[in-house]
Amino acid sequence: MFRISHFIRELDHPTPVAPRRNPPGPVVIWNLIRRCNLTCKHCYSISADKDFPGELSTDDVLRVMDDLKAFRVPVLILSGGEPLLRPDIFEIGRRAKALGFYVGLSSNGTLINGSNIGAIADTGFDYVGVSLDGIGATHDKFRRLEGAFEASMAGIRLCLSRGIKVGVRYTMTEDNAHDLPALLRLVEDEGIDKFYFSHLNYAGRGNKHRADDARHQTTRDAMDLLFETCLDLHRRGIEKDFVTGNNDADGVYLLHWVARRFPEHVEHIRGKLVQWGGNASGVNVANIDNLGVVHPDTMWWHVPLGSVHERKFSDIWSDLSNPLMAGLKQHPRVLSGRCGACRHLEICNGSSRVRAQQITGNAWAEDPGCYLSDQEIGLEAGESRGERIVTTPFVPRRRTS
Ligand SMILES: C[S@@+](CC[C@H](N)C(=O)[O-])C[C@H]1O[C@@H](n2cnc3c(N)ncnc32)[C@H](O)[C@@H]1O
Ligand code: SF4
Repeated sequence: MFRISHFIRELDHPTPVAPRRNPPGPVVIWNLIRRCNLTCKHCYSISADKDFPGELSTDDVLRVMDDLKAFRVPVLILSGGEPLLRPDIFEIGRRAKALGFYVGLSSNGTLINGSNIGAIADTGFDYVGVSLDGIGATHDKFRRLEGAFEASMAGIRLCLSRGIKVGVRYTMTEDNAHDLPALLRLVEDEGIDKFYFSHLNYAGRGNKHRADDARHQTTRDAMDLLFETCLDLHRRGIEKDFVTGNNDADGVYLLHWVARRFPEHVEHIRGKLVQWGGNASGVNVANIDNLGVVHPDTMWWHVPLGSVHERKFSDIWSDLSNPLMAGLKQHPRVLSGRCGACRHLEICNGSSRVRAQQITGNAWAEDPGCYLSDQEIGLEAGESRGERIVTTPFVPRRRTS
């Protein structure tokens, strides 16, 4: 996860650069139920409107939560499927709050209505994230339900009316990229607190439909728009969180944007980006699926690390006998191809490893989702690609036009 707004604020209010540190326990994204009233085209959990047998019971969830607390997990994101379809969702949410977690609810928003908004507000979620993958028909087509956009918007407005912090989550592909400017306007007009921009990851139905992924130029244009919008809001005194996910090359792209726009700040921002350290799957981000199986993050459902029925989460997470976990926990990771040769590996850490693994079978190959040019990653013309980690200082290229 890459916090654009954090780095934009650093331009005006720099804070000291510190060594990179991992928080005590990982943020846990917990898919409590796989059932969903939608069947989105890109869904990593391949959810559908049917029962998935063997899901964790309320008692299982509460027991695992105690272990997460003892392991010093700071944040729980309660997700699905559609978590509002779990009858015990508010009991789980209340217990998580009582234990002191920061608790987010990750919903498609269509089921938030007058009869449950009171319970949502009373649970005290710190944040409710609602997915909007476009405006009107674009969203409905992406989410394969006519009327989904209107229902999700109604859910968002209900949350805002109760003073709940709301974020919009948008996953971009070539199909819905044209709606990004309108969505950003909507976020400002509706007074939404957060915008989470997700790149497509190649998991579940998202892998099946990976041909729809945004072209690299589309992604570059989107990132430019996000940076400029975040800066513009910040300079108008409107503070919102702008966050991206599933492609940590965004940090390197920001560095080049700063080099062009604010060359006097580039070394400071570079220091802060190294402090952040890029992709944290398997380290600071963890996933528990609906059956209680632990994964390095939500996009790794095809790699089980162990079940909370058999071992404590804390034991599973600390076990490095799985080669994927051992490799993910190295920093910087040992990678090949463009990622291995990239001079900014200590910033991006090789991004999500899922796309490389799905395309080549090798989790340590270059990320096909990296949209940076050879020049931007420090490869000179004719330079051979290989496994090396370059530590020479970053020299920004000034805009020539
Ligand atoms: C699996 S959904 C569960 C919560 C809820 N049903 C929803 O749609 O918001 C969680 C988030 O993951 C996003 N997502 C699903 N599949 C994805 C993929 N293949 N790549 C990137 N994001 C994905 C969804 O758009 C949504 O914002
Ligand atoms: S992305 Fe969310 S709303 Fe869409 S099918 Fe998956 S779980 Fe359901």
